[in-house]
Amino acid sequence: MNLNEVLQIADEMVFAKTGQHLDNLQEAILRGTMQGEKYTKIAEEIHCNESYVRDVGSKLWQILSEELGEDVSKTNFRSAIERLQVSIVSHLEQHHNKIGSFNICGETLHSPDTQNSHPPNQETSNPKQPQTSHQDLSEMPELGDFFDRTPQLQTLTTWILQQNSRLIALTGISGIGKTTLAVQLVQQIKEEFEYVIWCSIDASHTLDEFEHKLIQFFSQSEKLDSPTNQKRLPVIKYLQKHRCLIVLDDVHNLFCSGELAGKYKPDYEEYRSLFKQIEKLSHKSCFMLIGWEQPREVTQFKNQNTPIRTLQLVGLDIAAGREILRDCGLEEIDNSEALIHRYEGNPLWLKSVATLIQELGIGATELLLDDTILLPEDLKDVLQQQFDRTSELEKQVLSLLATENQPVNFAKLLQHGQISSSDLLNALQSLSRRCWIEKQASLYTLSPVLKQYIKTRQ
Ligand SMILES: Nc1ncnc2c1ncn2[C@@H]1O[C@H](COP(=O)(O)OP(=O)(O)O)[C@@H](O)[C@H]1O
Ligand SMILES: [Mg+2]
Repeated sequence: MNLNEVLQIADEMVFAKTGQHLDNLQEAILRGTMQGEKYTKIAEEIHCNESYVRDVGSKLWQILSEELGEDVSKTNFRSAIERLQVSIVSHLEQHHNKIGSFNICGETLHSPDTQNSHPPNQETSNPKQPQTSHQDLSEMPELGDFFDRTPQLQTLTTWILQQNSRLIALTGISGIGKTTLAVQLVQQIKEEFEYVIWCSIDASHTLDEFEHKLIQFFSQSEKLDSPTNQKRLPVIKYLQKHRCLIVLDDVHNLFCSGELAGKYKPDYEEYRSLFKQIEKLSHKSCFMLIGWEQPREVTQFKNQNTPIRTLQLVGLDIAAGREILRDCGLEEIDNSEALIHRYEGNPLWLKSVATLIQELGIGATELLLDDTILLPEDLKDVLQQQFDRTSELEKQVLSLLATENQPVNFAKLLQHGQISSSDLLNALQSLSRRCWIEKQASLYTLSPVLKQYIKTRQ
């Protein structure tokens, strides 16, 4: 593991525990520790008081100890993290043997930095394994190549198996790899549950239909008579009685087009009370919601005292991005890194543009030199689906952002004078929930691909 990977894993562990990412000081402590530096040197480098640095360090070791399930300190952090890597690799070997021909790319076919993984102690973290596991994964897509995502798998596994989070929102722009990550996760942890079901929410799933489907699944597995002869219990009763993992993919279909993000369609309002029950009532089950739009009540909770967690997925790292390009036939391009950055490590975007480059034989180097952003038609279609869901207000804000060359702050956007401050705030909040805009400190920006897409519409 290189330093960046160590920092990424530590960041995920701290985030899982505290809901906060590593701050600069914590990061400096980890960097220094990995480089064998003493506190005095670390404090000197960042111009900080040594005793304060020690204090922050000791709290950090405490958090990492709890996450790793062993005592971690400045002296043994390096070896603890090396053991974690060994444990990841050995888990993969076991996992690979166990599942035979199931195709997980990464562990044998690819370089170590693109390996997928399974966190340590995961299988022992919940020693009471269910006797039988009933699974309906007929709607779960098959997993193709799978690269990277070690920290994200670790975070989700910790939330679900160790912290018993009841409601997890997996969000991120279309094509970023939410469904793929969830499939990999389910494959890894499904045996820990009595009931596992994957449902894709499409237009036909009102709450009534969805509950009916779930109850049928529970009832059949319980070998009851035909469910229609049974008094139908509320879904929550099953979730309380059994340990269940329920994955709902494409939950954006529950929400209205043309409104700010997360407003239920009239026919789907009842989902709100199901999600509330799942959050509020005591049970050991987990609902995972996947989609580029999430219920408003879910995205608001990032506080670690609630049983709700949100993971916003970002792009793949450079090594994984290169694997994607290689799979699409772009073997040896010099500036693959620039291409991956430009397409934000989004695997779907990368596949789409790599296929176009491959088919047309355009030199990727030439394209990168003049900052061209190619938008193949299939990519435009995907973006259009998401764009069409935004409200008029959000469309106005996107147009403003597309004209800016640099990230801008709220005041600058307000200066355009087209939108009131409260409307502007609501639109910015909604767009960041949809992962359409990025916020760094107090500055807002659009990614180059989205900017290009908005411009082509104008
Ligand atoms: N970790 C990954 N490794 C390799 N390919 C990936 C990975 N994540 C996603 N992909 C590929 O990218 C595309 C989009 O992924 P998907 O999971 O459907 O995205 P989302 O659900 O966020 O829209 C799919 O073709 C998928 O195979
Ligand atoms: Mg998906």
